Formats: sequence, structure tokens, C-alpha cells
Amino acid sequence: MNTPALSNNHILSASLSFLTALVLSTHSQTANTASNEPGFSPYVDKAGNISLPADFRITMAHLGSWFAPEGDGRGFHDVYTEATSVLYYRKHGKFPDGATIVKEVRAEKSGDYTTGKNISFATGEIKQWFVMIKDTKGRFPGNLNWGDGWGWALIKTDHTNKNVSTNYQADCINCHMPAKENDWIYVNEYPTLTTRNR
Ligand code: HEC
Repeated sequence: MNTPALSNNHILSASLSFLTALVLSTHSQTANTASNEPGFSPYVDKAGNISLPADFRITMAHLGSWFAPEGDGRGFHDVYTEATSVLYYRKHGKFPDGATIVKEVRAEKSGDYTTGKNISFATGEIKQWFVMIKDTKGRFPGNLNWGDGWGWALIKTDHTNKNVSTNYQADCINCHMPAKENDWIYVNEYPTLTTRNR
């Protein structure tokens, strides 16, 4: 009586582990198709389309802020990257493959507070986001939003999965020329990338 019961159990547990393996492998396949190769970037699909990282304000480290007093980009520009990318930068002086940089542009207002008169603050009104993904391998040669070591994206609030930039050479790179020596990023204004505040 014991033997068949044991072997039934055996069969059951074998099929359970098979099912588990199947579920796990299906799962990792889904993850793989979400980016062009396993582990590259969760914000890039197979074709190189870039999306906005969800809830990056709490999952990423704040690199620094800019304040633009006039023009279309008037307001606060807050820049973020992964904490792991910050640690890598501090050690190697460059961003790691797959690093994400987000710049959030928010409208500003000012008012009188106990800290002083005309204190400016960033409102909840988001104007747009810029996203860059470090790519050391030139993964998307035919995609006009990839090149010079990065994927380049402009994302509007109505569609956070859509990159409205069509060509980084036309839409982005000229304005980043002053930062070319620093891999196109205005790193000198991001205190988080250094340890000098400790
Ligand atoms: C009008 C000039 C201009 C254009 C066009 C422009 N940038 Fe920038 N970008 C800047 C400047 C200057 C900064 C830093 C100062 C600031 O934000 O005001 C910056 C900052 C950034 C940052 C934060 C990291 C860094 O480099 O310091 C990202 C990310 C970014 N830009 C991505 C993009 C992408 C992607 C595009 C194209 C879709 C783009 N930018 C187009 C001028 C520009």
C-alpha cells in the first residue's frame, strides 16, 4: 500500500516542480521580451522604445536640481538615476551600461513663507520628462533615438510609454554639446555623484 502512495506523491511533486519551472521560465521569457536582452533595462522594449520608469521619485536617487526662470522649460528640472548607478559613477567616473537618467520638468510658483518672501517651489504640474538610457553596446543601430552611447527620449504626460522624440541628433544632442566631454551629461552640477558632502 505504501509504495504506490509514495510514488503517487513522487509523481505529484515532480509535476508540481515541472509546473513551477514552466511558470518561472514563462515569467523570465516575459521579462526578456520586455527589453532587448535579459537584464539590460526594464524601460526599453525589443525595438528600443523607451518608457518612463514608474514612481522613480521614490525608487531612484535625486542627482540635482535646476531652476529655469523663463522660456518653455520654465520651472524646476529635477534629475534622478538609480542608486546603484550613483555608486558605480562614484567608483568609475562613468555611468554603467543600462543606467537610467530621468529629468522631470515641473512648473513653479512662489509665495511668502516663514523662510522669506518670494520663495519658489515646484508645483504638481509636470511639463514633461527627458529620459536617457546608457548603452555601451550600440544595441539599436537602426533606431534614430539611439546613438552616441545613449538612448534618448522625450516623454509627455499623456502617454508615459511613448517617446515623442523622433531623432536624437535633431532633438537633443546639439544642446548637450557643452557636456560632450562628460558623456553628454551635465555631471558637474550633480552633487550626488560625488562624496564631497560627507
Ligand atoms: C534647448 C537645449 C536642450 C535640448 C533640446 C535638450 N536638452 Fe537635455 N538638457 C539641456 C541642459 C542645458 C540640461 C541641464 C540644465 C537644465 O536642465 O536646464 C539638460 C539636461 C538633461 C538631462 C539630465 C542629465 C544631464 O544631461 O544633465 C537629460 C536626461 C536630458 N537633458 C535629456 C535630453 C533628451 C533625451 C533630449 C532630446 C529629446 C534633450 N535632453 C534635449 C539642454 C537641452
